[in-house]
Amino acid sequence: MTSTADTNTTTTDTATGAATGGRLGPEALRERALEALTTARERTALLTDSVDDGELTAQHSPLMSPLVWDLAHIGNQEEQWLWREVAGRDALRPEIDPLYDAFAHPRSERPSLPLLGPSEARAYAADVRTRVLDVLTEVRPDGRPLLDEGFAFGMIAQHEQQHDETMLITHQLRKGPAALDAPPPPVHPATPLPAEVLIPGGPFTMGTSDEPWALDNERPAHVRTVPAFHIDTVPVTNGAYLAFMADGGYTERRWWQPEGWAQIREHGIVAPLFWRQENGQWLRRRFGVTEPVPEDEPVVHVSWYEADAYARWVGRRLPTEAEWEKAARHDPVTGRSHRYPWGDADPGPDHANLGQRHLRPARAGSYPAGASPLGVRQLIGDVWEWTASDFLPYPGFRAFPYKEYSEVFFGPDHKVLRGGSFAVDAVACRGTFRNWDYPVRRQIFAGFRTARSAELD
Ligand SMILES: [Fe+2]
Repeated sequence: MTSTADTNTTTTDTATGAATGGRLGPEALRERALEALTTARERTALLTDSVDDGELTAQHSPLMSPLVWDLAHIGNQEEQWLWREVAGRDALRPEIDPLYDAFAHPRSERPSLPLLGPSEARAYAADVRTRVLDVLTEVRPDGRPLLDEGFAFGMIAQHEQQHDETMLITHQLRKGPAALDAPPPPVHPATPLPAEVLIPGGPFTMGTSDEPWALDNERPAHVRTVPAFHIDTVPVTNGAYLAFMADGGYTERRWWQPEGWAQIREHGIVAPLFWRQENGQWLRRRFGVTEPVPEDEPVVHVSWYEADAYARWVGRRLPTEAEWEKAARHDPVTGRSHRYPWGDADPGPDHANLGQRHLRPARAGSYPAGASPLGVRQLIGDVWEWTASDFLPYPGFRAFPYKEYSEVFFGPDHKVLRGGSFAVDAVACRGTFRNWDYPVRRQIFAGFRTARSAELD
């Protein structure tokens, strides 16, 4: 996924003016930045303190870096952007920069590098943070776009949280007994919901120009006209996906794109990643625990090809990225696009399953307080949602603060995912937030919902 100088492609309530896109005063901005950086570091500590040094330096999957790489890379990016670029100070450890340059070394290669060891990596990241907090106290806006509304601090907090998601994926791929624990998501009363919601046709505002910490690929705001369509009220569940499997979903070529068919044949894929069948029952492994697949939870760990095949089997299709964002942000009564399905308030625990508070998706139909104006549920949190769309720039896109953030990933190789998962922090999740990955990718916390064009009624 999407993170500064590292991608999987190879993925608060602050009661502040930011909630409405308004400009904050310097003190409120500092507070917001401090809170975001602190929250991220607490999460990083939890993910890296929960395993021993041997596990920190091990490569649990060739798809992932050793956790100790992520830890020092987080510190290195923070040093490069906030200590050197923002504060104009000299490099602390220039000799380690190349080791933590995500473009210089693919993940599979990183264990063979002379990386900082666990205690050294922790000390380095802590040293950078101490210095950065001084910078945060002293820095004054100076007209540089990087400092506008504290953007650089927001970018680095998002970067760390994105690596916290990456590290959670590493935890999921790691063998051995559970190292993490979290309470289950809240149980909201099950109310009968319609299977799908009609989103009326017409223009809406996609993307943003005034969200202070939005990344370059979310910008600028622009008008898109989207014909009427229907979208699933909730993400596709394990139970629905089991029906696809039972109906020969993985054995009938007609549902699959040629590349997806080739992938499942080559790798013998017959179910979502981390699932296995025992005595006729489907089980899944989740953070070191094997448990029966819960039928009422959104399906997760499926590739874009699996999502696309399911949608075809059920006589539907994946929503386009514009359809997804319209369903998530557009209020047909006011004509406005909001920051989130529920409005402009920052996400709270009643709105969405975010922030690794719960290490699983919530039951489909949960979070009524997070519903869109038309009643679509769980667009934010729970599982990333694959869309039909390639990752492309919006009209008027400008790379910021550098081309490797997003621009080098634009094109048909990557599909867009939206909405964030239970593993994503609120600081890195908005109605406009765009994630991207290869369509074969399965270890990410991705599921999907389906749609259909209304003209076919
Ligand atoms: Fe990174």
